[in-house]
Amino acid sequence: MSFLPPGAYTPATDHWGSFAKLSARLPEGSVAVVDRTVTRFHPGLLPALEARRPRALVQLTGGERAKTFASLEKVLAGGLSLPRSGTLIAVGGGTLGDVATVAAHLLKRGVRLVQVPTTLLAAVDSSLGGKGAVDLTLRGRVVKNPAGVFHYAQEAWICPELFSSLSESQRREGAIEAWKMVVCLDGPLFRRYLRQAPTLARMVKDARRLKESICAQDPYEQTGLRGVLNFGHTFGHVLEGMSRFKLSHGDAVGLGMLCALDVGRALGVTPEPVAEQVEEALRRGAGVLGRERTAALLKRAPLEDVVQLLAADKKAGKAGELRMVLLTAMGAFRIQEVSEATWRNLWPAWKRGLRP
Ligand SMILES: NC(=O)c1ccc[n+]([C@@H]2O[C@H](COP(=O)([O-])OP(=O)(O)OC[C@H]3O[C@@H](n4cnc5c(N)ncnc54)[C@H](O)[C@@H]3O)[C@@H](O)[C@H]2O)c1
Ligand SMILES: [Zn+2]
Repeated sequence: MSFLPPGAYTPATDHWGSFAKLSARLPEGSVAVVDRTVTRFHPGLLPALEARRPRALVQLTGGERAKTFASLEKVLAGGLSLPRSGTLIAVGGGTLGDVATVAAHLLKRGVRLVQVPTTLLAAVDSSLGGKGAVDLTLRGRVVKNPAGVFHYAQEAWICPELFSSLSESQRREGAIEAWKMVVCLDGPLFRRYLRQAPTLARMVKDARRLKESICAQDPYEQTGLRGVLNFGHTFGHVLEGMSRFKLSHGDAVGLGMLCALDVGRALGVTPEPVAEQVEEALRRGAGVLGRERTAALLKRAPLEDVVQLLAADKKAGKAGELRMVLLTAMGAFRIQEVSEATWRNLWPAWKRGLRP
């Protein structure tokens, strides 16, 4: 007899296969949340879901604008008659997954959640680890993820055919987040990746295993360990903001990782050969953009705006010091305070697109 509520941490259970085949796992009378865009690319999706006689099928259009209270309300309305033992299934990218996770947590104080990630980013990152959130708009400004929950999915279905409709930039985004985990957490695997580029399926499997191992040790983000998943995100968020979100999150994180390597080298934490090899691998293997993109973005950026962005990111301390993930070796990391002076010293080189 288990006394764990639905959504409590349990190790991830992944099922691989086509959606048509895996859909037989869905109990009848479930509630489905589906990305409308995905159903257009994959016409077999809705009939397969409908065959399971869901009590509600809520379609939302994926994208950051889906992460509103209005979407959440739609999903909750669809789930009104769902019993606590019922299942909510989310078929979509990170935005739909995030909304569905919150809904699963709230409905009947917690129902079963099944995640079917349809973007690579969702497959390697957001559909695993229990987090879900919606955004708030305050005085016309979107605040990301202020209202969130932990609610672990009971299972995830990885359906590789669904990734066929992703754009090159969407694939790169997922690959960058996957490489991030390998670089920080698994040296031998990183060296294997260097010798031979992984297939997409291999990369998803490896990234999910690595993220799962971190979540198993810190399921509710209490020990600080999950912080490693933020490698590259400190300056990544700055660059994402500077581009007014024209740069994808993944591309921004990729450039942010290069910044983190520079900071690590400057502090003597990241050995020079490690930084060099990782930069090379990120450029070639994961498709991280060139430093000239960082330069182009920073050209227009007054330093004061950057300081503000970093402070808003809640990673900065009182004296402007940052808590950053730095590599200590291949597959090993340390989370460390970085003074404002340290990164300001690197700024002029970043602004010229050079390796400091
Ligand atoms: N919960 C977490 O731990 C976590 C972690 C990382 C990111 N996130 C969140 O994830 C979100 C980003 O995720 P995302 O990049 O998947 O975004 P998304 O859900 O907006 O998907 C991106 C775009 O791709 C479309 N799409 C989805 N699947 C597709 C497919 N198979 N073929 C073609 N198009 C498809 C969507 O309709 C959307 O337009 C952000 O809101 C972020 O905050 C959450
Ligand atoms: Zn990220």
